[in-house]
Amino acid sequence: MVMQTGLIFHPYMRPGRTARQTFDWGVQSSIACDKAGFDTMMISEHASQIWENIPNPELIIAAAALQTENISFAPMAHILPHQHPTKLAVMVGWLSQILEGRFFMGIGAGAYPQASYMHGIKDAEPKMLNDMVRESLSIMEKIWAREPFFFEGKYWNAGFPQEDAPETEEDEQHMLADFAPWNGAFPEIAVTGFSSNSPSMKLAGERNFKPVSIYSGIDALKRHWEIYSEANIAAGFTPDRARHAVSHTIFCADTDAEAKREVMEGPIGYCFERYLIPIWKRFGMMDGFAKDHGIDPNDADLEFLVDKVFVVGSPDTVVDKLNVLFEQCGGWGTLQVESHDYYDNPEPWFHSLNLLAKEVAPRVKLPEGSKAPATADA
Ligand SMILES: Cc1cc2nc3c(=O)[nH]c(=O)nc-3n(C[C@H](O)[C@H](O)[C@H](O)COP(=O)(O)O)c2cc1C
Repeated sequence: MVMQTGLIFHPYMRPGRTARQTFDWGVQSSIACDKAGFDTMMISEHASQIWENIPNPELIIAAAALQTENISFAPMAHILPHQHPTKLAVMVGWLSQILEGRFFMGIGAGAYPQASYMHGIKDAEPKMLNDMVRESLSIMEKIWAREPFFFEGKYWNAGFPQEDAPETEEDEQHMLADFAPWNGAFPEIAVTGFSSNSPSMKLAGERNFKPVSIYSGIDALKRHWEIYSEANIAAGFTPDRARHAVSHTIFCADTDAEAKREVMEGPIGYCFERYLIPIWKRFGMMDGFAKDHGIDPNDADLEFLVDKVFVVGSPDTVVDKLNVLFEQCGGWGTLQVESHDYYDNPEPWFHSLNLLAKEVAPRVKLPEGSKAPATADA
């Protein structure tokens, strides 16, 4: 079994891009990934960030579904505290039917306090947000099960009406529409993990969901796997590293020098200098990388990240760097490439995606005992 490849589309568009440009770039990226042989594409949901300017990932997924053949899609993530669970469950069920098996669902608690505030959550703190995630999920599962209930929760009320079997042809015209997910099964659910004591990884383990981490250093990643697998084993499951997807900044070109120059001088460097390096420092996300390499987080700059943290280089170098990372932290099943704004000149980016899918992924040794293909079935 080979490592799977995924694209995560936040999408880090430079401020000033129009909604139409962002949308176009999403659909173009899905077509390029599908052609290159990527297994999955995940699309973020943000109501507040200029650089992360997609409020409704499902719109890009629906458009991309019609222009792609094999790749699976997931919102990554629908932010459960921000919407009514029934509305979301019905939309997800319908979308998974439209995708006819090429859909899985990412869920998250929400990263940005401004977005929580916009949705009426004034003092967003992780405990409450995670509690909301759990309540929302339990309602969505009841809606998908299509059995009668009425639930009055701490955050939302919801129900599914009792429906009698039709007796006449006329009765049949008035039955409830079926918005259960594709084939009547629950979609595979993926959960985003971020902090080192991640409550999300615990939920993923308990419910046997697919764990998805952002790479933020060796210790944090090891800890994510520990939290996930402890909860997974305690709930009676067998953890499988092949299901773990890890998002990272990855760029591949024909030579090491070309790859480094492109990342330093192109859209990736532009985004890191202006947006991600400041935000990583603010949220403590630089700490893990700094610790791994024995420097002060305040001294971390773009070149440090390109040389020591990102996975940048020719296919041979990228394979070597991934094998070293896998040895250090145990490995994972899906290499989830963080997308960037190559809207003006997609060629180097699409070339990188091609090299990753065709020349890198097949040569990376998966962790011992990997079983399931990481792709989710709806
Ligand atoms: C791969 C990945 C994708 C994420 N996508 C989003 C997103 O689209 N919107 C958002 O508000 N937060 C997003 N987050 C953050 C989550 O909503 C949430 O804050 C975080 O995963 C909580 O992790 P923790 O339980 O480890 O603290 C993402 C996190 C990860 C790891």
